[in-house]
Amino acid sequence: MSNYTLPDLPYDYNALEPVITKEMLEIHYDKHHRIYVNNLNAFLEKYHEAEVKHDAEKMLELSSIVKFNGGGHINHSIFWEILSPQSKAGGDLKETYEIYKSITKHFGSFEKFKELMNTKTVAIQGSGWGWLGVSKQTKALIVDTTLNQDLLSAKGIIPLFCIDVWEHAYYLKYKNLRADFVKNIWSILNWEIIETKYKKAIL
Ligand SMILES: [Fe+2]
Repeated sequence: MSNYTLPDLPYDYNALEPVITKEMLEIHYDKHHRIYVNNLNAFLEKYHEAEVKHDAEKMLELSSIVKFNGGGHINHSIFWEILSPQSKAGGDLKETYEIYKSITKHFGSFEKFKELMNTKTVAIQGSGWGWLGVSKQTKALIVDTTLNQDLLSAKGIIPLFCIDVWEHAYYLKYKNLRADFVKNIWSILNWEIIETKYKKAIL
């Protein structure tokens, strides 16, 4: 039986204010993410039951809903991990970090990278995620997007950080202004964690 659980949030519900309000984080984490986890467990159980019965048709029917909820769980787990309160390390990208050196080398400047990431992420049609990742094959940095709850790793890219642009991520405060949410998220990115992920990815 599967037993995926909500990961602990590494900060309080009000710790990411004013970028993400207490109410936004509480609903996003405790309602939306929790539903992905509950659904993942429930549908994996049904999937295993179908597998025991060798019911291939049922297994295929269930696989897309398992993929969707599993993606929702994995993507949100990465998202909570790479955020940090401004009072701690939030938004603090040190020029000595390898990730800073690689970004400036690869994209020309940090500002150019940020503009590319913002533009691509804001332009996602419908629900999805903006990503900075590392190609598994070439180890090059890549700015990319995924739709719905698709995984970046399915494209052969190791995720470093992500921006959730489902409406549930920003609508309570930002309403239709997705671009403002994306612009503000930079001040609560945990570059210390992103640097650790980057060093691991390029090994
Ligand atoms: Fe979300």
